[in-house]
Amino acid sequence: MKRLIILLTAAALLAAGIEAGAQRPRPNANLPKWEGVADTPQMGWSSWNCFMTDINEDLIKATAEAMVELGLVDAGYVYLNLDDGWHGERDENGFIHEDLEKFPSGMKALADYLHGKGLKLGIYSDAGNFTCACYSGSLGHEYQDAITYAAWGVDYLKYDWCFTNDVNPKGAYTLMRNALRKAGRPIFFSMCEWGSNKPWEWAADVGHSWRTTGDIGPAFLPVETSYDENGRRRWKPQSVLEIIDKNEPLRQYAGPGHWNDPDMLEVGNNITVDGVYYEMTNSEDRAHFTMWCMMAAPLILGNDLTKITPETLEIIRNKDMIAVDQDPLGIQGLRLRNEDNLQYWFKPLVGGAWAFCIMNTGEEDRVLPLDWPALEVNDELSGRSTDFASTNYSVKDLWNKDAKPFTTLVKGKGKQRGQMVANVRDVTVKPHDVVAFRLTPVL
Ligand code: GLA
Repeated sequence: MKRLIILLTAAALLAAGIEAGAQRPRPNANLPKWEGVADTPQMGWSSWNCFMTDINEDLIKATAEAMVELGLVDAGYVYLNLDDGWHGERDENGFIHEDLEKFPSGMKALADYLHGKGLKLGIYSDAGNFTCACYSGSLGHEYQDAITYAAWGVDYLKYDWCFTNDVNPKGAYTLMRNALRKAGRPIFFSMCEWGSNKPWEWAADVGHSWRTTGDIGPAFLPVETSYDENGRRRWKPQSVLEIIDKNEPLRQYAGPGHWNDPDMLEVGNNITVDGVYYEMTNSEDRAHFTMWCMMAAPLILGNDLTKITPETLEIIRNKDMIAVDQDPLGIQGLRLRNEDNLQYWFKPLVGGAWAFCIMNTGEEDRVLPLDWPALEVNDELSGRSTDFASTNYSVKDLWNKDAKPFTTLVKGKGKQRGQMVANVRDVTVKPHDVVAFRLTPVL
């Protein structure tokens, strides 16, 4: 009897325990990333490409004013991102502070100022002990840093990959994702490990975008390796064409909430590094911008906005091109042909429309027929096809505003009377330049 009572008591306690356990949240350190901050690729400006670590409050405020006055905020460029070099020291409790010589009003005041102008503040850190420019990294301080950023009013974090020996990439980025979520303020999480660990294969629920390549520079064609007078190999940037080749095969991994990031824009920028001057022509800038839009890439400007030329402004403010990038379907474009210095690209857009562009990477003008049946696209990824034989599209030139729209199918004449036939036209594509069109089905 005594034994039975003990057994019954044990069973009751066990049942109660199970019930109590079921009511407690299950232990799980992981938290979801913030949703709804990356439905379309991020747009904004970053200090790195032009200013590197030479940044300060005056420059950032002047840039913010330019972004508003030039109509860039209205065009969608809302993030103003401080890259490397804003950092001061960590205090005795491990909390990071801004460099008060560079940012005398402090980061919170800067965030308030930017928010008041309709902008959002981006900041930069690193998964290792140090950032790439050797400021304090976030390793071991992830939750502290996330809380600090949230308290300052930060909206975007670019998280780099320097000094990460023995750091596990998925673990490190997941840890920071959790920390950002726990800190309670929606923050866009821009992963920057240069594609070293194939983040496209594992980071869809970790970050909102991931870099797919090394660092871009204002160079259209690949840069030759060169050595300085001491025999030291010079830094060389990834060129626009190399980056396109690396980013192109990754289209299946991009989509709303998680984008391939082929690095920031170099439109209108120039730099001298290791004694070498880099700059692109206006045509190359246009081709670079167009290709980033075709690839649904983040549009993060990298030029000095306080000294912008009308030519640069015309490129970055092209609303039709931006709409291609920001299309709500969020499908990265596909390269239909890549031969003879010509690349043909298509991107499925909302409402049965397509963006179409031809890039001439060679050195001569090219006169090319827009022969629609020969440009047929059957895109397995999106399940869409252009179906030029039976769908008539209205074709709008996205760079030449004076060109009148025309249709892909017209009524045949002579023997073809009574049929709809392809309206084949010639187009000229300049060297290192593009032509781009939006094809909208005519109902
Ligand atoms: C790395 C990144 C760059 C930039 C620098 C800053 O090289 O890839 O985009 O953030 O660090 O030091």
